[in-house]
Amino acid sequence: MTHRTIPCGPGNPLRVVVVGAGAMGQNWLTAVTDEPGTELVGIADLDLDVARRSAAGLGRPDLPVGADAVALAADTDAQALVNVTVPAAHHPVTATALFAGLPVLGEKPVADTLGRALSLAAASEVTGELFMVSQSRRWNRQLFALRGMLEELGAIGTLTTEFFTSPHFGGFREEMAYPLLIDMAIHTFDSARFLLGAEPVSAYCQAYNPPWSWFSGDAAASAVFEMEGGARYVYNGSWCSPGAETSWNGAWRASGEKGSALWDGDNEPVLVADIRPAERPRSPYEGVGGALRVFAESLRTGSTPMGEVHENTMSLAMVEAAVLSARTGQRVLLDDVLDQARAAALREETRSDVRAALAGWPSIRGVLASRHQAPPAAAPA
Ligand SMILES: NC(=O)c1ccc[n+]([C@@H]2O[C@H](COP(=O)([O-])OP(=O)(O)OC[C@H]3O[C@@H](n4cnc5c(N)ncnc54)[C@H](O)[C@@H]3O)[C@@H](O)[C@H]2O)c1
Repeated sequence: MTHRTIPCGPGNPLRVVVVGAGAMGQNWLTAVTDEPGTELVGIADLDLDVARRSAAGLGRPDLPVGADAVALAADTDAQALVNVTVPAAHHPVTATALFAGLPVLGEKPVADTLGRALSLAAASEVTGELFMVSQSRRWNRQLFALRGMLEELGAIGTLTTEFFTSPHFGGFREEMAYPLLIDMAIHTFDSARFLLGAEPVSAYCQAYNPPWSWFSGDAAASAVFEMEGGARYVYNGSWCSPGAETSWNGAWRASGEKGSALWDGDNEPVLVADIRPAERPRSPYEGVGGALRVFAESLRTGSTPMGEVHENTMSLAMVEAAVLSARTGQRVLLDDVLDQARAAALREETRSDVRAALAGWPSIRGVLASRHQAPPAAAPA
């Protein structure tokens, strides 16, 4: 099954409303404005002053604004929505848009819970509208190069990430439970799935808060995931770690049959193996601008983009599995987490057509895997 296509391109740009004009929304407003294949036709935010200020900041004070994204999209003949609201608003805003006939490009995480993420995947099936999640740190040329190296190393035994930074955000991140796992580690977990080309089987995690932490919730975590095929993905991170800080992409090591590969997260990865380097795939696109371009191309061609909701949801499942393991002290099976999430979605979902789609999935893991897309073809470095 594929999604509805929309004839669009640089000569006929996709008309887009951006919803959520907060910190990250500004990046998306710039991306939609700069991309020749898209046209910004409105800004929605619950806080209309924020929307108006953002329009003025773009030099377009007359740009339509509104508090209700889907109503604004109807008023402006928009063809798609970019959802950069807070995680709790991802499900309501995206579901309403899909059922109004609008494809959606959303910020990570898919939704604030795995159950709501599954509901959105089912809503995308029911409506036939594309829902793609932008996991911006996946659109990185060096990460693509590292993936190519892992393919050359043969079987991979261990993949590790060290993530040590010391940001003072203020605001919700310093108040929430498990800020590192929920707000940040999803990027590295998503990259690990991409690098290994494998899905998680189980998670064991300890989360803790260093005594000097300025976060209320656990700002440090150590997790081990068993991946399909037997590799272990090991994550070790802290948001309270001044000195010798790693890249925000983390510092990576892959240990394989024929050697190792290292990536410091900011510079070209290094292959340490006695093998002849092969031509390696590169991401043709970078960051949120890259995700936006791929979204528009997928709408035009009908192709399934990397980050399509089904594929992306397993990254959120890794987060929920790690949090559950940290809470219970037990090793957690991803299939159990997926089953519990579907049960929650069936309880919460108000639309009978979405409930029927969810209930009809023969295997949650199988359905999520069914939309997997190979990374974009190699492009010039
Ligand atoms: N990819 C990245 O590297 C990255 C970085 C930062 C944030 N993010 C993600 O971007 C999203 C937004 O984060 P942020 O830091 O910009 O948050 P923010 O709080 O700065 O901005 C969110 C905005 O959404 C608006 N909003 C909330 N609910 C709404 C609704 N129902 N309708 C319309 N507007 C609504 C709020 O008024 C606010 O202006 C989050 O999902 C976050 O995880 C991603």
